[in-house]
Amino acid sequence: MKKRIGLLYGGKSAEHEVSLATALAVTKALNFSDYEVYPIYITEEGEWQRGARLEGPADDIAQLQHGDGTGEPNDISAFLPADSGEALDVVIPLLHGPNGEDGTVQGLLEVLNIPYVGNGVLASAAGMDKVIMKQLFSVAGLNQTPYVYFIRSEWQADQDGWLDRVERELAWPVFVKPANLGSSVGISKAEDRTELAAAVREALKFDRKVIVEQGVAGREIEIAVLGNDEPETSVAGEIKPMGGFYDYDAKYKDGDTALIVPAELDEEIYSRLAEDAKRAFKILDCSGLVRADFFVTAENEVMINEVNTMPGFTPYSMFPLMWQESGLAYPDLIERLISLALERHREKQQLQSRRG
Ligand SMILES: Nc1ncnc2c1ncn2[C@@H]1O[C@H](COP(=O)(O)OP(=O)(O)O)[C@@H](O)[C@H]1O
Ligand SMILES: [Mg+2]
Repeated sequence: MKKRIGLLYGGKSAEHEVSLATALAVTKALNFSDYEVYPIYITEEGEWQRGARLEGPADDIAQLQHGDGTGEPNDISAFLPADSGEALDVVIPLLHGPNGEDGTVQGLLEVLNIPYVGNGVLASAAGMDKVIMKQLFSVAGLNQTPYVYFIRSEWQADQDGWLDRVERELAWPVFVKPANLGSSVGISKAEDRTELAAAVREALKFDRKVIVEQGVAGREIEIAVLGNDEPETSVAGEIKPMGGFYDYDAKYKDGDTALIVPAELDEEIYSRLAEDAKRAFKILDCSGLVRADFFVTAENEVMINEVNTMPGFTPYSMFPLMWQESGLAYPDLIERLISLALERHREKQQLQSRRG
């Protein structure tokens, strides 16, 4: 029997367009003789719209933006396809950022008991908050740049105190980030106190929690991790943003960020990165996939920057490119993620929920 797949994409997020491009590519990669594909489109306003069952790969993004017109915010009936009468076998959430990559949608799917691709509630939530993530990394003994963090009210109560503390504990330049976002939104680099204060004000527009990190001068190297209990790592890739840092425009607009796969690295450095990527995967209790992002300095110091629990997933994104180069083509990667999702769900069904 064909598996019924729900493709969940779009979303109220800076990465809405990227998500649409990913969904289009995924429909092109899926084997329609094995799957029935049900599109679930979340509009930029947050309405959930059921699309008609796809008979084959979508022709273009516009086709994926047509729902049945009955969508409402968080309308979970989108997971119960009207024309099949049966629940979905698995959902592929192709969403990034808050409300998609942060555990909320994953929690909804848990409650509905529908298998889904990728990370669960805990890993997604922990991976979305850069402070929590870094605290866990340090428990795992991973090397990372020093940082300071605070919430809005703490900042407002003692701005000079925080500026002093940053100056005392970190070296310039620093990177200021909203704790919970992605796509480099709200992130700025500050070279002195004045710039720092402005950068904090900017970051506070996006979150009540802000992290200030010491800047690292190094190459940006990434590794893809795939699996559940025994995750595997891909070859490494390098990103080379052409102007300044890897900000929102460099990621999605300029197109002049070079992606180098495989990255040129000593075998020994690669092993350290692969080892650390798996440790990051485990400490966050990840499942399915994660992309671990590192800095490698000129002195060969390896520092973890972050993990992405739902990394960019178009065929031209780092995660699929790194697997491609490791011998796993895009359609096979998707197959693999679906089986990992089903495996994890099966395992969960076998757990007892009470004594007896
Ligand atoms: N501590 C740092 N030192 C140097 N560059 C940094 C630092 N933190 C972030 N950057 C730059 O900013 C980019 C975005 O930061 P990142 O923490 O990865 O946020 P996001 O979750 O939005 O991707 C990085 O890819 C890197 O280019
Ligand atoms: Mg990043």
